[in-house]
Amino acid sequence: MLSAEDTDLLCRVGPGTPMGELMRRYWLPVGYSWEYETDGQPQRVRVLGEDLVAWRASDGTPAFTEPQCPHRGAGFFYGRNEESGLRCAYHGWKFDASGQCVDMPNEPAESNFRRKVRIRAYRGADYGGVTWIYMGPRQDDPPGVPQFEWGLTPPENVSHAQKIVYECNWMQALEGELDSTHVYVLHRRLNADDSPRYGLFHNDQRARFHIEEKPYGFTYGAERSELDGNVYWRTTQFLFPVYGMFPAQDGVVPLSVYLPVDDHHTLHMGVWWNPAGAMPGAAQEYGRPREALAEEPGMLAPGVGPMKPEQRGRFFSKWWPQAAPDSDFLMDVRAKRARNATGIPTVRLQDSAVIHSMGRIMDRTREHLGTTDVSIIRARRMLLRAAMQLREDGTPPPGSERPQDYYVRSCAAILPPGADWEAELDDWHNCRTSEPPRKVAEANRAFKERALPGEPAYRT
Ligand code: FES
Ligand SMILES: [Fe+2]
Repeated sequence: MLSAEDTDLLCRVGPGTPMGELMRRYWLPVGYSWEYETDGQPQRVRVLGEDLVAWRASDGTPAFTEPQCPHRGAGFFYGRNEESGLRCAYHGWKFDASGQCVDMPNEPAESNFRRKVRIRAYRGADYGGVTWIYMGPRQDDPPGVPQFEWGLTPPENVSHAQKIVYECNWMQALEGELDSTHVYVLHRRLNADDSPRYGLFHNDQRARFHIEEKPYGFTYGAERSELDGNVYWRTTQFLFPVYGMFPAQDGVVPLSVYLPVDDHHTLHMGVWWNPAGAMPGAAQEYGRPREALAEEPGMLAPGVGPMKPEQRGRFFSKWWPQAAPDSDFLMDVRAKRARNATGIPTVRLQDSAVIHSMGRIMDRTREHLGTTDVSIIRARRMLLRAAMQLREDGTPPPGSERPQDYYVRSCAAILPPGADWEAELDDWHNCRTSEPPRKVAEANRAFKERALPGEPAYRT
């Protein structure tokens, strides 16, 4: 349980709030680099409760600037992005990526008024096919972009599988990522003997948790008993402030991003990468999420399914999914009777349904946390502590000035009983090998053999 006051501290991210100020110490991913074309149409974005326009200047620099012109308030969305600046559609005032006014075509030629006018502007950068924003105080000297492994990996090894606007607060989305025991309940197939294409299954639903704090957040191992006496370990990374890596399968590592758009909206992005080599189809789809849904009710599809028609006038206008609260997340009651726990067609949408069902900001004064919620409790405590320390004495929050710390992975592994999971998996977790832990490969082979011939391995 969390008091209403602490819930507010944890969840609210607008300017001046403790958590909002913490978030502003980090580079945050906003979209795919291809979305922001050089000299292209500005895009409406909202980050940490601030409306902005995102555009790419003639030299390729991504720019994030305030959405209203300081002359008479016209929206820059209608402006022209040309010749190293964004020009307001109304009277032509033009601003560069740093926010400086560089032209006032309706003022006398000899006027120096333009030198005195600036708009709010935040630094942008590209890394790993993604465009990032830094809204913090170090605009002239920002810290480095987090060095996630996928950004240092060839594009054919990386799949940007999904991007989607959630209509709820970021923290309940992140809490879902760090919550291991829902995996074999929410995402399960109804019949253990069915193919993995209908969902996950494990006989041991009472995972034991082992949490290790790290300079960037924490790693935890969730321990489950296999029927043959071995131990199935699922390891998850929480990385400040908005990232989770749930367990990799088949040597593929997923990163989930929960960007706080405002207190009531979150932008989720999902990246998958294979440290050992190409991912099937990744090169063609680099940076372009998959949109298909499974044809058969109850069969799981990857990704989040198709988007609604462009939501013109709204932020992140192209990323509002069809599967949303107003469609009950495409739940199919026949599939729910016969195949999987929810009848919802992808794992990510199953997660989406439950976190939306909590309300815009989950009321944590009414919750009852049990022993298996220890990772959620720890993440909240670390975030609140870091926000308070930043406010009190300016202590940089975890990872904010250590981009190299983000070079880590999660994994799933089967180890003998009594094995030291952290030591056994250390090389994999710290990207020192591209060979998945040997026991994972063995486990996955066995898993596939139980599937029907010709079926793909299960993927979220
Ligand atoms: S309102 Fe933008 S130039 Fe006049
Ligand atoms: Fe989930």
